[in-house]
Amino acid sequence: MTPASARVSVRPPADQVSTQQFAEDVAFYLTQTPRQLPSRYLYDALGSALFEAITRLPWYRVTRAETGLLKTHARAILSACAPLTDTVELGAGSGEKLARVLQARDAGSAALRVHLVDVSRSALSAAAGLLVGLPATQVITHEATYEAGLAEFSRTQSETGHTLLLFLGSNMGNFDPPKANELLCQIRAALQPGDLFLLGADLIKPERELMLAYDDPLGVTAAFNRNLLVRINRELGADFDLDSFQHRALWNATESRMESYLVSTRTQRVRIAESRLELTLHDGETIWTESSYKYSLEGLFGSLQAAGFARRQAWIDEDAQFALTLVQR
Ligand code: TRP
Repeated sequence: MTPASARVSVRPPADQVSTQQFAEDVAFYLTQTPRQLPSRYLYDALGSALFEAITRLPWYRVTRAETGLLKTHARAILSACAPLTDTVELGAGSGEKLARVLQARDAGSAALRVHLVDVSRSALSAAAGLLVGLPATQVITHEATYEAGLAEFSRTQSETGHTLLLFLGSNMGNFDPPKANELLCQIRAALQPGDLFLLGADLIKPERELMLAYDDPLGVTAAFNRNLLVRINRELGADFDLDSFQHRALWNATESRMESYLVSTRTQRVRIAESRLELTLHDGETIWTESSYKYSLEGLFGSLQAAGFARRQAWIDEDAQFALTLVQR
């Protein structure tokens, strides 16, 4: 068979989030109680590079554990999905994880359409470049939010064969339970009966391990979190004094989530020109920048079943306590 590879962009690349949107979000979230900033703004070019560095830290094991599971169980995952005609990855990032799975396809496999959904244009083009090299693979990029990307995909999917949808990296952990349920329902709605959904999620583990993963001894996670203030200073004309903000991680056992904060170490005034905002932060006052929910395996399957999926299989990295769960619509 001739490897038919092509790259199509279904959606014309939209602008990166506009400065105005960023300014409005910062004004809104910083004046909430408690003060907060949306975690998606952590990932500018430097933030993405720092996160990439986090994934290599000995204390942050999510990425390595998941990559190992995908590599070891790629054939089992693929055979549960036969005949596979479409795959969709939400938040595809570099595309390396999906490539691990698809590399295990048999030589001479039927043509496959790969849909990549991500808000980052640079991530999409890197991932597309990697995946388009696989045999008989067509790559379709969607520079879009998960929701919009799912809607675009469901309009174009094949009538025959199965779809495998992947949502990896414990990205679901950034959604609070009602939002996570909403997203799982949207995923189910975009799929056909018989289609499969592979979800990667970090499991609850001893607090000491979680604290090291989210407040590492090298200070890379602290730099990643504080870079959000660097970004606001640069893009929104603000005057955050970096020396008087500290990174803090906290395990909230009641909510089963890691929380990350920026803590003001003195009473200070901050001006954010583009947001038309001036605020006083007190000594010890916090800005909440992200939550990362941790799950039990039963809790995960419970949420998936509540969203209308049937349990198929789970693979766990016992050492890192990370799970890949496979369910079927
Ligand atoms: N959201 C990812 C996670 O929960 C990325 C992340 C790792 C992160 N460490 C962080 C986000 C610290 C904010 C602060 O694993």
